[in-house]
This record gives sequence, C-alpha cells and structure tokens, in this order.
Amino acid sequence: MRWLDAFLLAVCAGQTVAHTGPDESRHSLPRLAGSRRFLNTFSGKRRWQKGSGTPLVKEPEQPRGEAVEAVPKDIAVHLKDCQINYGSGCDGNQKPDGVDTSDIERPKLGDVRYGGVGIYDCVNPGDIAVTFDDGPYNYTNDLLDKFAEYGAKATFFITGTNLHKGKINDPDLPWASVIQRMAAEGHQIASHTWSHENFSQLDDTQARNQLIWNEIALNDILGYFPTYMRPPYSICPRDCQSLMADLGYHVTYFDLDTEGYLNDEEDMIQTSKDIWDDAIDGSDPCKDSYLEIEHDIHYQTVYNLTDYILQSLFDHGYRSVTVGQCLGDPPENWYRAGSGSVPEYTFAVPDPTGTSSCPTITDPSAPTSTMDVSEDGTCGDGVTCAGSSFGNCCSVNGWCGASIDYCGQNCNPDFGDCADGDSPLPGDEPLPSGPETSGGSGDPSTTTGPAPTGSLQVSIEGNCGGDVTCEGSEFGNCCSVSVSHLASAPTVLLYPIIGAIVLG
Ligand SMILES: *[C@@H]1O[C@H](CO)[C@@H](O)[C@H](O)[C@H]1NC(C)=O
Ligand SMILES: *[C@@H]1O[C@H](CO)[C@@H](O)[C@H](O)[C@H]1NC(C)=O
Ligand SMILES: *[C@@H]1O[C@H](CO)[C@@H](O)[C@H](O)[C@H]1NC(C)=O
Repeated sequence: MRWLDAFLLAVCAGQTVAHTGPDESRHSLPRLAGSRRFLNTFSGKRRWQKGSGTPLVKEPEQPRGEAVEAVPKDIAVHLKDCQINYGSGCDGNQKPDGVDTSDIERPKLGDVRYGGVGIYDCVNPGDIAVTFDDGPYNYTNDLLDKFAEYGAKATFFITGTNLHKGKINDPDLPWASVIQRMAAEGHQIASHTWSHENFSQLDDTQARNQLIWNEIALNDILGYFPTYMRPPYSICPRDCQSLMADLGYHVTYFDLDTEGYLNDEEDMIQTSKDIWDDAIDGSDPCKDSYLEIEHDIHYQTVYNLTDYILQSLFDHGYRSVTVGQCLGDPPENWYRAGSGSVPEYTFAVPDPTGTSSCPTITDPSAPTSTMDVSEDGTCGDGVTCAGSSFGNCCSVNGWCGASIDYCGQNCNPDFGDCADGDSPLPGDEPLPSGPETSGGSGDPSTTTGPAPTGSLQVSIEGNCGGDVTCEGSEFGNCCSVSVSHLASAPTVLLYPIIGAIVLG
C-alpha cells in the first residue's frame, strides 16, 4: 500500500502532509498511512493459512467510518462466532448477567471529543499509547507480565464474548481476573463491544446492546465501565457515531498499525517490526506521538513483537502511556461509576530512558491563556484556536485552521498561535495571497478563484463544500467532486482522498 500513499501524496500535490512539519516528511508517511489505511481489527484467530494462495479481498481505500479489512474469501464466514441475526443461540445474543447500566447518567466530562468521527492521534509529544484489541485471551496474562517488566502501560479494548471464549464475567472463566489485573496494574480498560459485530449491519437495538452488554459485564467485574471504545473493524457509520455520542463514548482509532494480526508467523512478524521502525526511527519524541494498535489474541504479537516495540519505544525516548494519558484526559474521565466507584489512579508514568532531551518549549497544544479553546472551529471574543482540534491558528476571518490560509500573515495572533502553519503549499506555486484579508470575505460558493483567506471552516466530519474546506483537515486536503454522496447516502462520509483518485 505504500505506493498508494505515495500516489495520493502526489495527487494531492503534497498537501496531505498538512499535519506534519516540513522537516517531518520522512516519517509523516507511516503516520498518515496508519490513520488513512484502515487496516483494522477483527477477531479471527488466523487470517489465512500460509501458502494457501487465498486472495485477499481488500478495498483500496475506504472513507472513515466505512473501513473494510483484508479478509480471505474462504474464511470470512468463520471470523465471527456466528451471525447474530440468524440464531438466538449465538454468543453475541447472550446477554451477560449483571446490573443493567443503561440508566446510569452519562455526563460528558473533559475535553476529548465524544462520538462523531472519533480520535486518531495522541496530543502530547513524546507519548506512545500501545493498545490491544479483541482480548482478553489466553496470552493476555503473559502480555501483562511483559508490560510489568518494562514498566509500560497499555490500553485494552475488551471484547465481551468472541472466539468462543465465553462471557468475560463468567465466574467459571479466567477472564474477569485478567481484567481486574489490568486495572490493578495501571492499564486502561476500554470497550471493543460485546461480540465484535459490524455496526453497518446492526439495527439500533442491536447496536446499543453491543455497548450496554459489555458495560454490564465490565461493571460486574470492576464496579465501573469505560468511556473509551473502538468500533470493531473500525466501522462506525453515522448512526453509530451519534449512538456513541448519546452513550458518552470516545470513539478511538489509531494512527499506527503494525499489522501484527496479519503477520502472525515466526517468519512474517519481521514485517510488523519494519512497519514500526518506519514510523519510529527518525521520529522525534520532542514533537511526535503515536496511538498504536495491536491485538493480544496473536502469538507472535504477544511473544515477539511486543518486546521489540517496548524496547524500541523506550530506546527512542518515548513514554509508554494509556490512551487517556496521551490525550491529556484525567483518569477519572476514563470510566463511569457503576455499582462501585471509579478508583483513584495512582500510577506514575516512568520517565523516558532514551537519550533525547527536549528543549523546553511551551507546548503549543496547551492553552497559554485563560481563553476557552475553540470547540466549533470559530475563534475570537475570548475563544482561542491554540490547542483546538481544528488547528492552532485563528484566521483574520475568525476560523481555526492549521494551513497557510489561517496561519502566518493571515492569522490573528490574539486568538491562537500564528507561527504554527504546517502546510506550506508545495513546489514553486506562489502562495495564495487571497483577496483583502480584512473585512468581508464574500460568498465562497460563488468565488471561482482561491477561497477567501481563512474564511472557511476546516472540515471536522470529512464533508466539504459550501463554507467547509478540506484544506488542513484531518481527512486530507482534497475535496472530491461527488458532493451528492452526502445527501443520498448519509452513512457514507464524503472522502476527499477517494475524490483525489477519481480526479487524478
Ligand atoms: C491459546 O489458544 C490457542 C487457540 O485455541 C491455542 O492454540 C494455544 O495453544 C493456546 N495457548 C495457550 C498458552 O494456552
Ligand atoms: C460491514 O458491513 C457492510 C455492510 O453490510 C459491508 O459492506 C462490509 O463489508 C462489512 N465489513 C466487514 C469487515 O465485515
Ligand atoms: C521473532 O521474530 C524474528 C523476526 O523478527 C524471528 O526471526 C524469530 O524466529 C521470532 N522468534 C520466535 C520465538 O518466534
């Protein structure tokens, strides 16, 4: 897939690196690849038999929220325990015993986004959050031993019943004590749903049950349940995105995937180590951070790759942290109290043991004033872009962004950090000067030239057009032509990069 990334970069004229500085171009590719490729989680024990010649069914690129994974055709039917729509006896249709959590209040605490298109990146430079999906499984205790040895912290996205392992809170099974051990050793516990279904195929009740039933089981084990979740297969269409907002979940994806689940053989796992190295070698813990995905249901991941990753992480001067920590979210927000209370989190993050020492700079993502950080992409009047998810620059027209239209000379220094422009236009093209940057901005929809400087809202949902621009968004900088997708198929997010291929 590297060729495709390179192709997309070319098609987008270099602008897809909008979120990395010019000096980071070497490793901006894997980061981008991680967050754009959607090679995601699924709970098959074995993807395919080596040498079987089974062709992979894989879409080239998918919109966010509609990811598709590499599934060998002939084993696709065995991936799940069974199909919940075709048999009440399915594991996924067996509700766990325990107190019903559905009426528990769900205040949305903290600054991390709930629901919606979700979270792909850590915010604190120097942090790496290693995450594991699909467990607990029979390797998970050994994995916890390894993390203890290194003083490292993981986040576990727990699946309630999969791989015929039974229900996680079944008192006759070992899983509850594994989950209690995770909590006792300072790891973060998150939800990977009850039975790892595809949210594109569930009705509203089934979708809700996938979260609530896992809450019931986790509450039964811990006395509290998580506010962080990762959708199976990374598929969370619009309905799912709003359900997660209703239920008060942070939808958590990743920006680095070593594909350990695809390389679960002694002579293949090196490929995953190489993907890790591509991202980490030459990266800068003073500036970079990663939200990384693994699966603790695979032998080579647990007994081979994990050592490599943890060794490398510390050697390169990174901190090993939980997802909540890498997002700057205080531990009391990671969970909701159920039949018990959320315990105090007392685990210190060990200092990096690597050689690098960062120059003392003020963290640009931290608000430097008493102003509120923009939550809707607007700025001015006591609201700053610094530290917002839209970019740190406030344009002269009052919108947050990170591209040249919003930063540098097009920026209002009172409401953000103007030096943070990270998307210089490529090649020899002159920078757009834009029309007069003060005063009225005109109607963008009737403008044929470049959009008025910084007068557009940077897309937060992957849509574009009207007064919403892709430039500087998390989705890539190109806005595709097929706007009608949005109207005709609300669950399909408009995908700027697909648009780029069509245009290219
Ligand atoms: C874990 O389960 C797998 C699949 O059932 C089995 O092949 C393996 O031997 C088990 N490993 C351990 C350590 O129990
Ligand atoms: C999820 O469901 C959608 C809609 O049926 C389907 O197109 C997609 O291939 C499914 N993905 C996986 C990984 O099962
Ligand atoms: C671990 O991975 C390496 C490749 O990186 C491989 O050569 C080695 O045999 C693996 N070790 C085990 C015990 O599987």
